[in-house]
Amino acid sequence: MLPRRGLFALGSATLVAALAPAPAAAAPRRYPFTLGVASGDPLPDGVILWTRLAPSPFEPMGGLTYASHRVSWQLARDDRFRTVIRSGTATATAEYGHSVHVDVRGLEPGREYWYRFRTGGHVSATGRTRTMPAQGSSPGRLRFAAASCQAYQDGWFTAYRHLAAEDLDLVFFLGDYIYEGAITPDGGNRFDTSLRLPDTYTLASDTLDLYRMRYALYHTDPDLQAAHAAFPWVVTWDDHEVQDNYAAGVSRYPVDPVDFLVHRANAYRAYWENLPLRLPQLPAGPDALLYRRLRYGDLATAHVLDTRQYRSDQACGDNLRAGCAARDDAGRTILGRAQRDWLLDGMSDSGTHWNLIAQQVMMAECHYGGPAARMDMDKWDGYAADRRAVLLHAGRVPGTVVLTGDIHFNYAADLRVDFARPGTPAVGVELVCTSISSGGDGSESTPNLEQQLAFNPHLRFANAQRGYVRAELTRERLRADYRVVPYVTRLDAPILTRASFVTERTRPGLVHT
Ligand SMILES: [Fe+2]
Repeated sequence: MLPRRGLFALGSATLVAALAPAPAAAAPRRYPFTLGVASGDPLPDGVILWTRLAPSPFEPMGGLTYASHRVSWQLARDDRFRTVIRSGTATATAEYGHSVHVDVRGLEPGREYWYRFRTGGHVSATGRTRTMPAQGSSPGRLRFAAASCQAYQDGWFTAYRHLAAEDLDLVFFLGDYIYEGAITPDGGNRFDTSLRLPDTYTLASDTLDLYRMRYALYHTDPDLQAAHAAFPWVVTWDDHEVQDNYAAGVSRYPVDPVDFLVHRANAYRAYWENLPLRLPQLPAGPDALLYRRLRYGDLATAHVLDTRQYRSDQACGDNLRAGCAARDDAGRTILGRAQRDWLLDGMSDSGTHWNLIAQQVMMAECHYGGPAARMDMDKWDGYAADRRAVLLHAGRVPGTVVLTGDIHFNYAADLRVDFARPGTPAVGVELVCTSISSGGDGSESTPNLEQQLAFNPHLRFANAQRGYVRAELTRERLRADYRVVPYVTRLDAPILTRASFVTERTRPGLVHT
């Protein structure tokens, strides 16, 4: 496939590749599939397959030169590849960080497939994926998991090993796939003395090459690789794929806005290169179209949001604020006008039983109570007009489920147009999944969470452990299980279900089971 080019050159690797004569294809001598394989954004007739060549993942350019590499791929009906039904060849070029994105089409709806890649005599791990049910079909259930926030340096990704063993159709990843800050040579909380990361990892990412190296490190994690190889993923980003709490073109630091857009362009580019995304999601300079929709027969539509790229700067200087009147300003937005219209129209027109809104930051109101009822200006609490528009709309369309990441806590919340009136009917529910590792080991609860539960009656559950949310959607009911691991700073944590909730499609409201 021939990707379109960004608006401007993004770092030295891109520039050199663009100016140099096309290098001859060569075979990498050392094993190049150290970053695993992945699939994503399934359609009834297709799926994106991904890999990236990096024989030395911690080195610039993964230890490769500017040479391109031909990579062949196969997709089969069985895990032994006895019945290969699609195959082809792609080119991994330095310009795209030696990544490969294969948009396979012509597949059958609602079935499992296995895939693998090959180059220079090396064979990748085998991935399993699944197409969406046919457009007009009426599937009885959808099983998915929601995960977010995987700070490598905060702990092991053990939760992903358990997630890979679940029985799922899809995984939603809701942001903070990487963290841009420094990592010590032993991987921080992992205390992995065999890792010996180069000093380049102590630099915060801002260039394209540093972001590429950051993704390479994350992709070497075997539990993350297992979770990618087990299911198709639907990904969106939050802030740390670029910079903590950035807002559209506004950095958290006082830097030249043009410099920050170059920084954002580098980050967006590396994101696309390193995840199973289609060409329409390839950034053009500092802009990328990440919000998109996927359908699961007539059962569910997933509206995947981007609440970072188009948002107004955080109100009242960001962070926790009490009495910030600006958060109610009608002119402030977290979605941007175009995405907001797209979402509201899409919810009305979906024609499916459920509307899943896969997004980043907490939508339910959440304050600490008392006279200083502080709220977090980075969340939907800081963008009250957009939240009101979405929730008013949800009240007219049954089956709204918001999936959220970001905050490193589990929450289960009923959504109301006016959270101050707990007697009014809920218009949907929100499942906030905790982090995979961010925040370290975590705990059952914290004093802040206890306070939030006491002062926010729509919050049905809060928990500060690590893990993910597993959910099953049937035609009239959603069941959600909060799966947690007791620790992440040591290996081999077991998994357990900390709490479970159900809600009815036409009578929203989470009930503890
Ligand atoms: Fe996070």
